[in-house]
Amino acid sequence: MGKWPKPPEGSWTEHYPELGTGPISFRDSISPEFYELEREAVFKRAWLNVGRVEDVPRVGSYLTKDIAAARASVIVVRGKDEQIRGFYNICRHRGNKLVWNDFPNEEVSGTCRQFTCKYHGWRYGLSGELTFVQQAGEFFDLDPSRHGLKPVNCDVWNGFIFINFDPEPRWSLREFLGPMITALDDYPFELMTERYEFEAHNNSNWKIFADAFQEYYHVPALHSQQVPSAVRRPNATFECGHFQIDGPHRLVSTAGTRRWLLPPEHMYPVERATRSGLVGPWRTPETHFSAGLNPGGIEPWGITNFQIFPNLEILIYHGWYLLYRYWPTSYNTHKFEAYTAFHPARTVRERIEHEVASVVLKEFALQDAGMLGGTQEALEYGLDEPIVDEFPLSDQEILVRHLHKVVVDWVEQYRAERRAEPRSERKPVGV
Ligand code: FES
Ligand SMILES: [Fe+2]
Repeated sequence: MGKWPKPPEGSWTEHYPELGTGPISFRDSISPEFYELEREAVFKRAWLNVGRVEDVPRVGSYLTKDIAAARASVIVVRGKDEQIRGFYNICRHRGNKLVWNDFPNEEVSGTCRQFTCKYHGWRYGLSGELTFVQQAGEFFDLDPSRHGLKPVNCDVWNGFIFINFDPEPRWSLREFLGPMITALDDYPFELMTERYEFEAHNNSNWKIFADAFQEYYHVPALHSQQVPSAVRRPNATFECGHFQIDGPHRLVSTAGTRRWLLPPEHMYPVERATRSGLVGPWRTPETHFSAGLNPGGIEPWGITNFQIFPNLEILIYHGWYLLYRYWPTSYNTHKFEAYTAFHPARTVRERIEHEVASVVLKEFALQDAGMLGGTQEALEYGLDEPIVDEFPLSDQEILVRHLHKVVVDWVEQYRAERRAEPRSERKPVGV
């Protein structure tokens, strides 16, 4: 994928003729039937990020992840050989959910030497092998080697743990991520381990919230109190520096400086006092670079937002990053996970800078989230026959166009394959 500045003639969108420039439909975000297909076509085929290697730091460290779109819970665990593996969170005896603490519908993490089922006490090793059966002699021809935990494909890229529910994934994780994302191979995410996590249950389709972070066209209107007045004037341009698409993945880079949008008169007093805010600490001791960070050659570079299909976003700033995941829970609800990640604070001042950045950022995300119920409700007017079904997108909204197109393409491909069995003749899509 080459790099190019926006040409004086033409547009970002026209660089990708397959996207078209016409209005788009949001039927993919308001239909229970489409959601059922999306679960199979997207969430049970794509690689999904469920955590970082730091979340399972030692032999025996585990976490569980409940993924409603796949109607499954998985256990991710670091084995004695340091390898990180994934298993369905189900006991092979009579199907109890294997790992949970007080409430079965809550995700948990911890460290153990083996997993013990609460029901009849079967035990499993860290590699999933069945190691103990209560009164084994009472069973009939029970072969322990055939009753280990059921594996889920699991792989790690640059410290991010991904799983794939497809029994035969179409692509290795690296193939799936492709050159635009793996250009970040050398970016030192492992240095940024001080994390502030948020979770929200939002009343919209998952893609509708992802869209709010794929364009900055909404910033002067929705986040008006925190942009310079020059940007708030009618028809002022607020443009991103570089858009790029690679297979199902997207990125947008924005120019910026430490204080980017925020002249002092528009800041909260706490931002001025702590010298930190929406775009992070103003003075960040380390800024890490990677060839993949600024493929558009933006100067001064501010942020690059990597949108890894289907539901992961990593926004990299100077010296820290932000991560979002959108987990659908129904066709018009989703669970939103977010965290900010900094290098571990070495002084009280740094700790405060990190906390202020996290809190201000959360407020901005809430402003975006505040739109969701209204958007979802109006998109659903008319049920099967939406009252409005054609929505124009500007050039600055190219990534919104791309996400919806990729999801629809994957669903279409899935439908076509289902019509044209056998399964062995499947062709890859999108990558
Ligand atoms: S269901 Fe797990 S031991 Fe019986
Ligand atoms: Fe926003």
